[in-house]
Amino acid sequence: MPNETTTLMYEQVAREVARTAYPESFPTLPRVPSARYYDQQFYDLEIEHMWRKSWIYAAHVSEVPEPGNYKLFEHFDRSIIISRGLDGEVRAFHNVCRHRGAALLTEQKGSVRRFVCPYHAWGYGLDGKLVSVPEAHNFSCLEKAENPLTAVRCEIWRGFIFINLDKGAEPLADFLAPTTRQVADFPLEDMVVKDTILVEVDCNWKTAYDNFLEIYHVNTVHSKSLAPYLDSKSFTVSLLKNGHARFATRKKVGKTFFSDGVEEPEAFTARFKEHTVALPFFPNGFTALDPIGFTWQLFWPAGPGKAIMQAVMMGWKKDDDEDRAFWAQMRESQISVLNEDLFLFSSIQRSMSSGELPGILLGFQEQQIYWYNEEIDRRIGIENIPEHLRIQQVLAGHAGD
Ligand code: FES
Ligand SMILES: [Fe+2]
Repeated sequence: MPNETTTLMYEQVAREVARTAYPESFPTLPRVPSARYYDQQFYDLEIEHMWRKSWIYAAHVSEVPEPGNYKLFEHFDRSIIISRGLDGEVRAFHNVCRHRGAALLTEQKGSVRRFVCPYHAWGYGLDGKLVSVPEAHNFSCLEKAENPLTAVRCEIWRGFIFINLDKGAEPLADFLAPTTRQVADFPLEDMVVKDTILVEVDCNWKTAYDNFLEIYHVNTVHSKSLAPYLDSKSFTVSLLKNGHARFATRKKVGKTFFSDGVEEPEAFTARFKEHTVALPFFPNGFTALDPIGFTWQLFWPAGPGKAIMQAVMMGWKKDDDEDRAFWAQMRESQISVLNEDLFLFSSIQRSMSSGELPGILLGFQEQQIYWYNEEIDRRIGIENIPEHLRIQQVLAGHAGD
């Protein structure tokens, strides 16, 4: 992280603490149509133009450490194999046999020497090449070389594996650049996945995601857990290109709810000790970085009114009794804070789909909710969205890169 950016962050936070009025230079945010959160047509547009064309976090390298290790990514009606080849490369393939389409793998993770189809036993190498076809003489003109598994774009940022179903997409590094340069001084390469929590919720994926993009609710919903640790007035939002952002919040007592009573690693830039620095990354991710580790939160669509929340807990590379006990305790703490939020989602969803709330209203500190919604529209193509479902594009001039 260049010193200049660090200085800027401290200045921004100080300005936010001193602010007593709505900033004159910042636009009034129009209401966001509620229908975006329940309408089937809008949901279909998101799937087609956004989910299937954006870089999406799929797995971490620590989940596929050895050749032959794989993990399935199964969202928005696709099943994709993330696997490590004999050459050490991580690749992604559609989990679709080239014979008649059976899924090659059905277990969510495991280790294989080859992908062998459970239907008629066609076999594929870890590099996706078709290598064996039982009773091959029954096929006319079957060229193995012409029938490999279909590859999916797969690129890695500092241990985090992303996929993109759009072959023509920009490189991952370009897409993430506005956000990744904010955390160049956080030693992400030393981290591994410790645990994952999955929760199904009765709301649109955005209803759940929005909850993580503001701190306004912390003093009420998390009054006893998170609130005593965070100076909510200092919550500073920096919008970044491509729908990303960076948040910074001063810690009240130099700790967070999760790190209280825990010894922090020494070698950390002071700004991570003095602030909770959080990264919302488009389209569906959020993490609040902390020297003790952090949770990579993801929100997946499972229908207009259903979503899956995934919390991937990332910690340091050690594996002893003390570390395991710490992460077991962390899992409990995460679930208890999550439970403070969860009860709200279904009532919000009901209010929106009842038509009683035509649009949601956002304040200055909730601007990231508006910003990523703007990016959704840009990705879908504004002209493809029926007028009553669009939002106005008002924030582009307020985003940095
Ligand atoms: S569908 Fe896979 S071998 Fe037949
Ligand atoms: Fe919350």
